[in-house]
Amino acid sequence: MVSPAFIAFEGVDGSGKSTQIELLRQRLRNDGCEPLVVREPGGTALGEEVRNILLHREEIALHVDTEALLFLASRVQLFEEKIRPTLAADEWVISDRFYLSTLVYQGWAAGRDVDALRRLISVVLGERRPRLFVVIDTPWEICQQRVGDSPDRFEGRQGFLEKVADGFRSCAALDGDTVIHIDGEGSADDVAVRVWEGVCSALS
Ligand code: TYD
Repeated sequence: MVSPAFIAFEGVDGSGKSTQIELLRQRLRNDGCEPLVVREPGGTALGEEVRNILLHREEIALHVDTEALLFLASRVQLFEEKIRPTLAADEWVISDRFYLSTLVYQGWAAGRDVDALRRLISVVLGERRPRLFVVIDTPWEICQQRVGDSPDRFEGRQGFLEKVADGFRSCAALDGDTVIHIDGEGSADDVAVRVWEGVCSALS
């Protein structure tokens, strides 16, 4: 049995990560654990306000650096309000996205300096970081079909998802952090088996 840990799922919009989070939650429940599941941006009163601005208020101008800072602010608040107390109680935390998304979306895909962002994230987050990142690696064409006609501020940018997919394969996490890449093709149950095997071997 693996000890409780903080795991972040990452991937292109439509990669199937939310389904995999739900399947991992069920698996842990079957073992008698009830993980805290959070999403980024969001999960706190501040985070939900920030989420609304970032995702639903396209009329509000946001420089890409401002975007990165808003994501980071929401992340710090989420960690302090929700994640830290849960880890202190020795329980699982699963986050739908964490700082890899900022490196990939605001850095790699939107053209900001990835190393500069990495330094900024390292200073701001300090030790507030997951034990493990699970990147669901699904071909971006499949993701695109799933996202369909309702892209958000980020997904709507021309050629963006393709760059995001490339970024998740190319951007290194902060020094010392562990990332596993899971093949996202096939049925949700097949992917869930790969996720579980990957999690167990990375955490044991
Ligand atoms: P959401 O509806 O939660 O999408 P998903 O289910 O794909 O996670 O929207 C989150 C959007 O915000 C998504 O397009 C990715 C983007 N994002 C960033 O650009 N930077 C970040 O740091 C984070 C956490 C998300």
